[in-house]
Amino acid sequence: MENRKLGNLDVSAIGLGTLRTFDVESGPDIAVRQQIVDNCLTNDINFIDSAAWYGQAEKVVGITTEGKRDKFYLATKVRTEGKEAGEEQIANSFHLFKTDYIDLFQVHNMVDYRTHIPTLTRLKEEGKIGMVGVSAMVHEAYPEIIELMKSRQVDTIQIPYNVVERGCEDELLPLAEELGIGVLVMEPLKKGRYVNELKSQPDLSPLAEFGVKTWAQALLSWVLGDSRVSIAIPATSRPERIQENALPGTLGQLPQELRDYVREETQRCL
Ligand SMILES: NC(=O)c1ccc[n+]([C@@H]2O[C@H](COP(=O)([O-])OP(=O)(O)OC[C@H]3O[C@@H](n4cnc5c(N)ncnc54)[C@H](OP(=O)(O)O)[C@@H]3O)[C@@H](O)[C@H]2O)c1
Repeated sequence: MENRKLGNLDVSAIGLGTLRTFDVESGPDIAVRQQIVDNCLTNDINFIDSAAWYGQAEKVVGITTEGKRDKFYLATKVRTEGKEAGEEQIANSFHLFKTDYIDLFQVHNMVDYRTHIPTLTRLKEEGKIGMVGVSAMVHEAYPEIIELMKSRQVDTIQIPYNVVERGCEDELLPLAEELGIGVLVMEPLKKGRYVNELKSQPDLSPLAEFGVKTWAQALLSWVLGDSRVSIAIPATSRPERIQENALPGTLGQLPQELRDYVREETQRCL
């Protein structure tokens, strides 16, 4: 597995997202997530992203990483209005993760970020969190993110970037590279749509030589083909997909002509 710089961390180029997929309660469902986390370890995935907003996900991350805390970098997000509510939610994330240190704390979708960034910065200064970041889904938030990047208030940004959604290429990615700010890519498979909802089957044969065997791997390789990306964090509820999704992190950088092919083939099949 290739490791890349995410701020001051060396993270696996493929991480694990937990939106929807880790929002489970029952014992058998948690056992499946335990298998997912264990498969991450055997495939050298060392980074898990969660959020207070993801239902039971932080709790399930806490349960499934217990006793293995030193094997993973953990990231989560605060999403609420107001200083007190933010501090309460942040404290609860530590409790649910069963840890006294969180590697990356992000402001989810920039919600009340002017209030939460000072709180997170204080926690960073106190050594309770490693890095401060923000996430955003919409391009309208990019000017504010750029401000935060330029004023060095964030160590990382989390944004959508996939074969179709390329709005970060113009300004955010060049600036992140220039300033050494980490880039987490959310929705690398567009919530699975670009794998499971294509009208026709993409032709994988041009990618065989590179080692890509499934379209999900092609899409993840496309994301990692941009060296300004620190980590892509696909989510899954199926343990067997961890090995499949980890493979693109082991193949080296997809050549630009194959990257163009993956983009054109996705557009053809959409
Ligand atoms: N605003 C924000 O901060 C924000 C927003 C969105 C996402 N995120 C983060 O980014 C992570 C990833 O985004 P996402 O979960 O929305 O979307 P995603 O990773 O693009 O797609 C996840 C979906 O793809 C399917 N999938 C995964 N691997 C597959 C494979 N090899 N073949 C076929 N289908 C596959 C999964 O279904 P199965 O369960 O059936 O495998 C799941 O439904 C999230 O989990 C979250 O941590 C953050």
